[in-house]
Amino acid sequence: MATAKLLRQLIKSGTEGNQDAFVRISEQLILEERAKKHHLLANDLEKILYGRRNSMALQHTALLERLPKDRERNLPLLQLKEPVRRIEDVVLSDENTSLLNEVLQEHHQVEILQSYGLHPADKVLFCGPPGCGKTLTAEVLASELSLPLAIVRIDSVVSSFLGETAANLRQVFDFIASIPMVVLFDEFDALAKERSDMAEHGELKRVVNAFLQMLDAYEGKSILLAATNHEGILDSAIWRRFDEVLIFESPNSEQLRRLLSIKLRGLRREFEIENPRIIKMFKGMSHADVERVLRRAAKDMVLAGKKFLDERHLQASIRREDARRVRIQRS
Ligand SMILES: Nc1ncnc2c1ncn2[C@@H]1O[C@H](COP(=O)(O)OP(=O)(O)OP(=O)(O)O)[C@@H](O)[C@H]1O
Ligand SMILES: [Mg+2]
Repeated sequence: MATAKLLRQLIKSGTEGNQDAFVRISEQLILEERAKKHHLLANDLEKILYGRRNSMALQHTALLERLPKDRERNLPLLQLKEPVRRIEDVVLSDENTSLLNEVLQEHHQVEILQSYGLHPADKVLFCGPPGCGKTLTAEVLASELSLPLAIVRIDSVVSSFLGETAANLRQVFDFIASIPMVVLFDEFDALAKERSDMAEHGELKRVVNAFLQMLDAYEGKSILLAATNHEGILDSAIWRRFDEVLIFESPNSEQLRRLLSIKLRGLRREFEIENPRIIKMFKGMSHADVERVLRRAAKDMVLAGKKFLDERHLQASIRREDARRVRIQRS
């Protein structure tokens, strides 16, 4: 608990209507709570004091200045993304929803777990094809925990000098250990692939093993997520390092219905989302494909000067999506 002195000063400034003193003392209180590692409480207090978006923006700016860089190219090794979307913006399978809620609950109640010598799940693997919500779920986790989201692209960490790669990894792990964040190691398979393809390459293997050791030894404040499109190439040495694994797939009919109702929110239309014929039109697409089709259909509607989206807009947009797929496959 905050010191009695600060609490007295806080209430005094409030009753006297002294706004400057109130903000200053509140900030001291937040600092004190942060020093005691009560991050969720400190975040909550910041949200109350500055408003949610302002408090996230403040954290974001402060972090930008401290991002570690690759010495060779002078490029940041992590990208910061301000988490905006919330849990109601993502459509997940029942299994993934409950796994995500469990992870959130463990982090919301970290102190109770710690008092029993237990740790919340802080290494989670996301597997599945492109466009099914891996990056979005990382964003949702960050926004629900009021933490910044940092994305590490393995290819930006891998340097042409192998010695630098290990140093880059060390920098990333040191950075994320000291500041609580949600960290997504995106395209994690790039690293795992090199592990299997180039097992004979002694130095590269050492780098990969260094990464796995850093993952094992990691006891920092951040939640580490790794995302892959190619879970088939991950060996058991990698799987066992994660507390939880979430498998992402293309949406089934029920998930399509929920996705359509989220993505078409606020748009006037001449069809019912519940109509099985409508749902069937999107069968087999990823969430991101569905989103692209709807966006294109909405643009067509607006540009044609119409006020209501109808089935023909959807059909025309899906035909263009099919043509796009054929073009990509040919190239
Ligand atoms: N499950 C989902 N629920 C709602 N929207 C989704 C979902 N999945 C994807 N989207 C939409 O598609 C966009 C792209 O998805 P996202 O970047 O999360 O895919 P990904 O699985 O990370 O793909 P990749 O493997 O290519 O990185 C999201 O920003 C979101 O707008
Ligand atoms: Mg992604």
